[in-house]
Amino acid sequence: MANLQLSKNACQLLLDGETYEMPVYVGSENEKAVDITQLRAKTGYITLDSGYANTGSCVSSITYIDGEKGILRYRGIPIEQLAQKSTFVETAYLIIYGELPNREQLKRFSNLLTQHEMIHETLKHHFEGFPPTAHPMAILSAMINAMGCFQPDPMGTGDQFDDTVARLLSKVRTIAAFSYKKSIGQPFIYPNPDFSYCANLLHMMFSVPYREFGPDPDVVAAMNLILILHADHEQNCSTSTVRMVGSSQANLFASVASGVCALWGPRHGGANQAVISMLEEIIKSKMDVQEYIRRVKDSKNEIKLMGFGHRVYKSYDPRATILRQTCEKLLAKLGIKDPALDVAKGLETAALSDEYFISRHLYPNVDFYSGIIMRAIGIPLNMFTVMFAIGRMPGWIANWREVNDDPKGRIYRPRQIYTGPTIRDYVSVEQR
Ligand code: ACO
Repeated sequence: MANLQLSKNACQLLLDGETYEMPVYVGSENEKAVDITQLRAKTGYITLDSGYANTGSCVSSITYIDGEKGILRYRGIPIEQLAQKSTFVETAYLIIYGELPNREQLKRFSNLLTQHEMIHETLKHHFEGFPPTAHPMAILSAMINAMGCFQPDPMGTGDQFDDTVARLLSKVRTIAAFSYKKSIGQPFIYPNPDFSYCANLLHMMFSVPYREFGPDPDVVAAMNLILILHADHEQNCSTSTVRMVGSSQANLFASVASGVCALWGPRHGGANQAVISMLEEIIKSKMDVQEYIRRVKDSKNEIKLMGFGHRVYKSYDPRATILRQTCEKLLAKLGIKDPALDVAKGLETAALSDEYFISRHLYPNVDFYSGIIMRAIGIPLNMFTVMFAIGRMPGWIANWREVNDDPKGRIYRPRQIYTGPTIRDYVSVEQR
């Protein structure tokens, strides 16, 4: 495995009076890990690590995060540089293929995305099976899985990989826009091959027959930024799900569809929707931000400050820093006065000076400001997590490929400590 070094210092484990040696590996950023793959075979013990907070489930060369220092890099390139200089399509290429594309590669990739932007007309009829109230994340997951049935090679093996990737990355945007149109009862708007990736997404969502939505370049740029910032984030819940499903050699479409489901929940990608609901509730009830913070801190209430806290970041999430600046600029440019922004800034100030949040290292995460930007763009609340899913697609694809390209790759299959009843006899229903 490239850049994975075996350390001179092995780990010594003293267990039941015996000493065992386990190898230590070091990654390219000096991250260290004890290799416990032989632990059970040698000792009969397993490790217990609820929520995998301390488990390295894989070796990966895609994304690097240092949560203590607030660092995020895709293939070595800092997120701040990509946010300022790149496009989502270019960043997607970087994440999937490992290098920034040259001019010719970028053109070819963009052309492939355009070539595959339509969905099969038969697939379009699948939308009719969903009620208008269906959540777009349910539709997205189901349609991505169904899309696999229409692909010549859903595994994307060999030289089919580029084509399969382009189909998925391009069509997911069309499906997302169609699911929105379905939810509001409007006719589907077909993609326009002359538009950029993000402009096309907004066009399919907001144009209506005979009236084309010509998005403001700043709105397109904001959409582009949101997708770049969500493009990958190493072993989060949804990406680990994609890897786990992919490890059974399920095809790319099935694996990514499961990632959409994992992303949906409010602890993960659903938090962007939950943040806006929280801000609206505060505004509607005219509650003081300090009072809301007091309620969050009172464990009896079982409420979290949504958009705050992260398993890995123990300082400011670098994506939240970028989004806060963009949020302020975009709202000013569009002349929007959103009270949610004032409440969010008030909550942030109150939380960052409060001992509860300071001692637990809780800072705003990517979801804290992204929802206010999406609202300013006109994206409805139930589509927020869908936008996240479109953005995360390159990361899911790259991680799926890593799993499938690893000749020594094994099926993901953790162990457990069983705490149920010990052996007992079956009792017939008459005797129970
Ligand atoms: N508000 C209030 N308290 C919090 C918050 C929060 N947002 N997040 C964590 N805490 C508290 C916990 O209650 C716990 O307190 P305790 O030590 O007194 O029990 C402590 O901080 C540690 O939190 P954990 O739950 O152990 O952290 P974990 O790493 O398991 O969870 C998570 C991380 C799920 C993101 C959590 O911080 C959370 O629920 N945040 C709100 C939802 C959210 O914004 N999710 C989006 C994350 S980013 C993403 O997925 C794109």
